[in-house]
Amino acid sequence: MKIKIIKTVDEIHSTVKAIKLSGKSIGLVPTMGFLHRGHISLVKESKIKNDITIVSVFVNPTQFGPTEDLNKYPRDIDKDTALLEAEGVDYLFLPDEKEIYPDDYETYVEVTKTSKKQEGEFRPSHFKGVTTIVSILFNCVCPDNAYFGRKDAQQAVIIKKMVKDLKMDINVVIMPIIREDDGLALSSRNIYLNKEERERSLLLSKSLNEAKIMIESGEHLVNNVIKKISNMFLKESTIHLNYIRIVEASSFNEIEQLEKGKEYYILIAARIGTTRLIDNLLVTV
Ligand code: PAJ
Repeated sequence: MKIKIIKTVDEIHSTVKAIKLSGKSIGLVPTMGFLHRGHISLVKESKIKNDITIVSVFVNPTQFGPTEDLNKYPRDIDKDTALLEAEGVDYLFLPDEKEIYPDDYETYVEVTKTSKKQEGEFRPSHFKGVTTIVSILFNCVCPDNAYFGRKDAQQAVIIKKMVKDLKMDINVVIMPIIREDDGLALSSRNIYLNKEERERSLLLSKSLNEAKIMIESGEHLVNNVIKKISNMFLKESTIHLNYIRIVEASSFNEIEQLEKGKEYYILIAARIGTTRLIDNLLVTV
């Protein structure tokens, strides 16, 4: 079946209404395009679990800060469309900027506390833009299930919080991180890395694994883990570390000591040249 491309809110609303009337379930995979195997893993899961899968591609301006890469964010809609068609996706929702944010647009959705932590310290209005666009997409598509990647772990937790707080009747599914064979987490932004930066970028996943090994060997003091990992970055002058943090997986609260039986995220954010990368590892103590 050929994928159907929908560009307007009116058409997505009427399409969704007809799907609902026929009693079929809808899975939504929100993306900003330039699709890779990480995105496709979400699509495959949606295809398995839902009658109809809708993927959105929209480079959302409200989640980019004034000095960030909105204008140069990579785009290749023809390749994306072909990839989604090959996966048997039913609909591609592809609105333009004015369709989502007309000139008189003024409504925002914000998860006030969790949005200010970790990534929020470095990207102050980022998550407000994310929760706003995801709310809009949820209102356009009314999905039964919506799929997000653990690659953006804080984003996933914030979206789950928004859905709970606003009583949205949507099941948010969080999928594992897809990595290159050498460990680099797939990201649309990896295309910015030159050959040398690409090699250096491996320090992110390597240091996360090192932290995991320390924790699994019995180190439960967060400061000790962070100190060891930070030292690995001190030797790499070309990588500018933004942060390494260990947080409770469900709340993103920072803690000093890890407790047995609980889940934590080890989070890392670093700039290599002009490219900012994030990665994380989920550990159960
Ligand atoms: P984007 O960066 O395009 O990512 C779309 C989805 O793919 C997100 O849920 C993200 O976590 C997931 N993803 C990205 N890389 C992944 C990987 N290596 N493994 C598994 N999943 C991965 O995240 C966004 O877009 C936007 O913020 C969005 C939610 C679409 C709102 O604009």
